[in-house]
Amino acid sequence: MFNFDFYNPTRIVFGNETISRLDELVPAAARILLLYGGQSARANGTLREVRDALGSREVQEFGGIEPNPSYETLIKAVDQVRTHRLDFLLAVGGGSVIDGTKFVAAAVGYEGDAWDILETRGASIRRALPFGTVLTLPATGSEMNNGGVVTRRATQDKLPFRSAYMFPQFSILDPTKTQTLPTRQLANGVVDAFVHVIEQYLTYPIDARVQDRFAEGLLQTLIEIGPLVLKESADYNTRANLMWTATLALNGLIGAGVPQDWSTHMIGHELTALYGIDHARTLAIVLPANLEIRREAKRAKLLQYAERVWQISQGDEEQRIDTAIQQTRMFFESLGLPTHLSAYKLGTDAIDALINQLDTHHLTALGEHKNVSLDVSRRVLEASL
Ligand code: NZQ
Ligand code: ZN
Repeated sequence: MFNFDFYNPTRIVFGNETISRLDELVPAAARILLLYGGQSARANGTLREVRDALGSREVQEFGGIEPNPSYETLIKAVDQVRTHRLDFLLAVGGGSVIDGTKFVAAAVGYEGDAWDILETRGASIRRALPFGTVLTLPATGSEMNNGGVVTRRATQDKLPFRSAYMFPQFSILDPTKTQTLPTRQLANGVVDAFVHVIEQYLTYPIDARVQDRFAEGLLQTLIEIGPLVLKESADYNTRANLMWTATLALNGLIGAGVPQDWSTHMIGHELTALYGIDHARTLAIVLPANLEIRREAKRAKLLQYAERVWQISQGDEEQRIDTAIQQTRMFFESLGLPTHLSAYKLGTDAIDALINQLDTHHLTALGEHKNVSLDVSRRVLEASL
């Protein structure tokens, strides 16, 4: 196992009717900016509930943070915070609103051009406003991690950032707030969480036993509850399990002391930036092809994944790996996420543009061995046609 430094200060308040706890979690004298997305949080009453819980505190609102939050929008929130000297941010939404709030928290006190936060991938962050979150979409893990992803629309740059200052102080996870999610977003959430685990698990063995067993438990839970959450009648416990699983998939725990890949994510981000495909849907396209192309380097872990996650025991090694990749593909497809570029009417000409983007963003040595070159990324994309 590698050496590691595991730090996660985010307090999780989980369960039904927990939004009222905001009153004790947010400082009494806080001057708050409440950040949210389109209309869902207002339409389903979550925003009202949050405002009620905040009582007589000073609260301003900033709505309109779009899926794949944009720098252009977020910088307006930064202005609002500075102009009104607000001192606490509260995100109400999914990964996009939470990531956007992280960026605003870092940008408010940033000296220089705030886009540098992305250019430096977060390394230049020196301080941040305190912030908390009320999660409405289980998927990204942003509610309990220190990362975010922001897009600059003008240049189609979708870049990640990370910093020890970017942990939420607290996150409220009330599974009943997912009740209004469209099926498409629930399915996206299952697949995003699944691929987060895979990025940290399916690399090469280094005898990190408990990380492996935790990862396999999360994957099996997602396989079990994936089909259930898509049913109209999915009950509270199913939603609760999805919410907690998605949080644990990317809060640093299973990634401590193990090699990590993340090439599927980096290629996927370019697909979103150029063609507007939902984040999780890009992962469903890239992952099966990525496993196929890099099966030699991942052989030992692919066999472990086949045996322990999918209970595949029949056939020789090649057949077991083939079946595991096929099961993964079928799982995504069964949730309604296509696994080929052709489903989005993208062909070989799209690949050149994607490779150019990876090059521009210096993503030329990805993966756990840093050997996913532009050529390997091209082969992965070709295999996903
Ligand atoms: O904008 P509104 O009207 O609120 O609608 C949203 C949005 O259209 C809707 N929604 C959210 N909660 C709802 C709801 N609709 C009905 N009822 C509710 N309770 O869902 C839509 C998608 O929301 P979004 O926040 O964009 O989805 P998600 O949570 O999947 O976040 C995706 C973003 O997170 C980044 C992605 O790149 C993408 O930009 N990621 C962040 C990560 C992190 N911080 O660690 C890791 C991930 O790998 C990922 O890259
Ligand atoms: Zn993701």
